[in-house]
Amino acid sequence: MTKKIILDTDPGIDDAMAILFAEGHASVDLIGITTVFGNATIENSTRNALYLKQKYGMKADVSMGADKPLSRPPVGPTTIVHGDTGFGDLQVTAADVSLSADPRPAWQYIVEQLKAQPGEITLVAVGPLTNLALALQHEPGITKLVKEVVIMGGAFGVNGHQGNVSPFAEANIHDDPEAADIVFTADWPVVIIGLDVTHESFFTPEYLDKLRDEAGEPGRFIHQISRFYLDFYQRSLGISGCHVHDPSAIAYVIDPSLFTLRKGPVRVVCSGPAIGHTMQKTYERRHPHDDWSDMPAQSVGVGVRNEALLELYRNTLIDFGRRS
Ligand code: BDR
Ligand code: CA
Repeated sequence: MTKKIILDTDPGIDDAMAILFAEGHASVDLIGITTVFGNATIENSTRNALYLKQKYGMKADVSMGADKPLSRPPVGPTTIVHGDTGFGDLQVTAADVSLSADPRPAWQYIVEQLKAQPGEITLVAVGPLTNLALALQHEPGITKLVKEVVIMGGAFGVNGHQGNVSPFAEANIHDDPEAADIVFTADWPVVIIGLDVTHESFFTPEYLDKLRDEAGEPGRFIHQISRFYLDFYQRSLGISGCHVHDPSAIAYVIDPSLFTLRKGPVRVVCSGPAIGHTMQKTYERRHPHDDWSDMPAQSVGVGVRNEALLELYRNTLIDFGRRS
């Protein structure tokens, strides 16, 4: 049975890798892409999403979402990692895209789709969680309509992975911590695929070269936009290769057995030097001051079968490349 997903995303190089993964796998029915600020401005991330829709003839709706966080001052696009407009050295311009976005804002698109297909849609979010929080604020009842919520974001210190944009925060959560706290404390099932697992997986330069050679047009496209990304990893982190962030959330949807999960309520630090830090309470005892225990237990990824994940990604893209 196929799994219907709405992918909330800030394309973004690894976001594009995730979009093509979702589009390319037979068990995923990508019905909608909702965009959010983050790696790029909302205008650029939406244009990039429409560009992919046009290039690969995707049926997914594209709906434009939030241009800024709920309340924290915006930190600005992550141009150092994703380039000036989100796709590394590739600048998608208005002249390259003839499609337009759905007229509804992302939060409304999400609410209406969940109402129209109760219990059928998995929300996958791989950018700041602003659109999901806005959807919850407008229609709290969607918690009972969603099948599952899968997030790429956060870092819980497991496997030694603490943060990327700050010593103790991951970028998507740091971009809008209030939104993340709303999403994690809502009474719906959330699976959080954070740095604890995404920092355990690497696309090496050799892996990406093989993708270029074996996975047709999508493989060549991923190779092209990942040049800038690899440069960033080499220059800033001294790593040859890049982490598998956003595709890991799609991998979870396709095959949850790739990941080991840990249960417990999750909160987000919303101010101060640790802003964006995610913390999970994993034991029963109640403390006199305890803002965790009454919250729903969510699932955090703490282990990944890395080789199997990389194989799944490669095979999916090769298959997609044959059809594109
Ligand atoms: C996350 O931040 C963004 O830069 C990536 O697209 C990914 O969603 C990793 O921290
Ligand atoms: Ca992203």
